[in-house]
Amino acid sequence: MKGLILAGGHGTRLRPLTHTGPKQLIPIANKANILYCLEDLRDAGITDIGVILGDVMPEKVRELLGDGRGFGVRITYLVQGFPAGIAHAIQCAESFMGPEPFCAYLGDNVLKGGIRPMVEEFEAHRYDAEVMLCHVPNPEKFGVAELDGQGHIVSLVEKPKAPRSDLALVGIYLLRTSIFPIIHDLKPSWRNELEITEALDHLRVQGGKLKAHIVTGWWKDTGKPEDILEANHLLLEDIERKIEGTVEAGARVEGRVRIGARSVVKAGSVIRGPVVIGQDCIVGPETYVGPYTSIGDASRLVGADIESSIVIGEAVIETRHKIVNSLIGRYATIRSADGRLPKGQQLIIGENSSLFL
Ligand code: DAU
Repeated sequence: MKGLILAGGHGTRLRPLTHTGPKQLIPIANKANILYCLEDLRDAGITDIGVILGDVMPEKVRELLGDGRGFGVRITYLVQGFPAGIAHAIQCAESFMGPEPFCAYLGDNVLKGGIRPMVEEFEAHRYDAEVMLCHVPNPEKFGVAELDGQGHIVSLVEKPKAPRSDLALVGIYLLRTSIFPIIHDLKPSWRNELEITEALDHLRVQGGKLKAHIVTGWWKDTGKPEDILEANHLLLEDIERKIEGTVEAGARVEGRVRIGARSVVKAGSVIRGPVVIGQDCIVGPETYVGPYTSIGDASRLVGADIESSIVIGEAVIETRHKIVNSLIGRYATIRSADGRLPKGQQLIIGENSSLFL
């Protein structure tokens, strides 16, 4: 079986962060989102992987993944360019797939529990497709499937106004070559995209057997800032304490905290886990990093107060304004004009921005 990771799209709901790179590269718990997808495929034994590239700085995806060797896989890049729909992206991979079945995985998903059991089930049966689903409180925001009593899919609708179940399509699809002629015949939807949900429904109407696989751990689609912060929270729940950097006298590091090589926590600072701090960071003096925060490599936090946030990396935060539930882009600078201490600020800050609070 081959794999396909979708790293196209425009990520409009994540602007300004997606003005300077694909959303699939945004780090969550200090690891690019797309790497969680790649590891799920690899851990299910799928090592021949196509990566769909869009038109927002696709070279950054190539830079991170290279030929895949560093991650134990082989990568072939497939250029989609303009995001004409998930089914269109899959169509771009038709010749790469050849006669093999494949797993298409949306690159902005984070899943706990992996895909191995689903892949094993698909390989042991003759289903025409197998689709991962998750119970959600807001199914109208997703593709929605309805099942019979045996876990077979009996209807699929993209973002229905009146959902017939609470089972959302997660964006992980096990498919065979039978999907390609159906995609060829698709017409663009109301949002002017070729929809995989519609292609799957046509497959079903033509007599195809579609199996559902329901998420047993948790799943987050990281399309919006609050989803990324929630995924960060969920991933940090599982980290272990590991201090590679230096904690100076007079600093406190409490609970499950990971601090990367050459990072220094200076006097008067408190880090309260779960927190992950990358390499080459300076934290302090007099800085508080509260639970559920990820600080990317080479960041500098001086006299800062931050929690439940992501600092992507190489940022400078020198303000006592409390920063909460925030996403701070690479090379961003946040400084204080006066040092007063107002209530917490929520910030979504793009790459290279400067903020004076
Ligand atoms: O998140 C799960 C949902 O993903 C499913 O429930 C829906 O059925 C499915 O259509 C999709 O809906 P979204 O509206 O969230 O799709 P989005 O445009 O965010 O794209 C999902 C991923 O696929 C994202 O990583 C970008 C990538 N993509 C998307 C399009 C439209 C491409 O690579 N090329 C594309 O043309």
